Amino acid sequence: MKKILLIFGTRPEAIKMAPLVKEFRKYPEQFETKVCVTAQHRQMLDQVLEFFEVAPDYDLNLMRPGQNLYQLTADIITELKPVLETFRPDYVFVHGDTTTSTVSALASFYAGTCICHIEAGLRTYNKHAPFPEEINRQLTGRMTDIHFAPTAGARANLLSEKVFGQVEITGNTVIDALFFATEKLKNYSDAEIETLKNTVDFSKRIILVTGHRRENFGDGFIHICQALLEIAQNPDVEILYPVHLNPNVQAPVHSLLENVNNIRLIAPLAYPAFVWLMEKSYLILTDSGGIQEEAPSLGKPVLVMRETTERPEAVEAGTVKLVGTDRDKIVSETIRLLQDAQYYADMQKIHNPYGDGRAVQRIVEIIKNHHKI
Ligand code: UD1
Ligand code: UDP
Repeated sequence: MKKILLIFGTRPEAIKMAPLVKEFRKYPEQFETKVCVTAQHRQMLDQVLEFFEVAPDYDLNLMRPGQNLYQLTADIITELKPVLETFRPDYVFVHGDTTTSTVSALASFYAGTCICHIEAGLRTYNKHAPFPEEINRQLTGRMTDIHFAPTAGARANLLSEKVFGQVEITGNTVIDALFFATEKLKNYSDAEIETLKNTVDFSKRIILVTGHRRENFGDGFIHICQALLEIAQNPDVEILYPVHLNPNVQAPVHSLLENVNNIRLIAPLAYPAFVWLMEKSYLILTDSGGIQEEAPSLGKPVLVMRETTERPEAVEAGTVKLVGTDRDKIVSETIRLLQDAQYYADMQKIHNPYGDGRAVQRIVEIIKNHHKI
């Protein structure tokens, strides 16, 4: 019996780890599977846990309003010690690039556990963008024993860095989660979706917006909001913006965009409502990592409000375009997509560079066949 501990803390980690939790739990005779949430996020994490019906075995409940990286780092490493010492997992799974993932990998290294990194090998090789995620990924990569790279490019990055351990290509579990949600949505509705149906004018073209990157705090967010104000002057569009709960995002967005015609600021949506809304959207403006991976699978063009991305595959395929936080560039690219049907059609192609929905099966198979050290 192999003991598996999956540790995560934020919304995107939960979305991408929930299918893996479910897959491990299909084999109770082979795996004792436990989930530890740091709750680096609280409400935005709980929304995901509820939808995927994942109940944590350990909940560190660490989120503090307006938290900082120092305190969060210290809290996670301190609180994980008793969990690791009590459960004594054979394998710890961490995901991606958050403070939760890197600090959990470090704690697991101290505990002498085999570290498995999901969504390994994504790189910009720019120390400051995304901040602190690029360095989080590189640090986690140094400590990892089994790297689960979503794409060949991610694997090549890891091999060029001469990381320790084995590197496997599995696809990204985000597509497993997305397929689970789109399948469930065929016979599913909830209060959030009904509210959207009753309050949004879907005869207009919907532009869906999200943003939360630390390197965009301050001027970046101000320029993004100024661009949205200009785009909203077009009477045929409705801008829907579920605003991230980080106070550094809430403050500028609400002060600049509250009560503007054709702009609707809403609370973060639970995953099914968000996927439902992505499907109904004409175009997505975002700085999110996960949305850059999901939208090409849904055939939705994405303008990425970042200078650089660790997810080059969709940019190379032409379904995602980097526009940075330059106000004029965001406006001109959006207007072009609204007015130039051929340009829109070229970006709209359904494209799945990140996975085929079977990543978690591959990951569990690899662990079944892995010999514990
Ligand atoms: C974090 C991750 C980022 C990831 C993002 C996903 C780090 C350093 N950052 O950024 O990599 O892309 O999550 O969204 O790991 N808050 C709430 N409720 C919630 C969630 C957040 O109120 O459910 C507020 C709190 O005031 C909290 C603040 O947002 O202190 C910041 O949360 P934090 O996780 O530190 O940063 P994010 O910007 O969410
Ligand atoms: N998402 C969601 N509700 C929202 C906005 C986003 O469920 O209101 C989902 C989205 O589908 C994607 C993930 O959250 O799977 C992205 O999270 P986020 O942008 O916070 O983090 P990142 O991916 O940039 O790390």
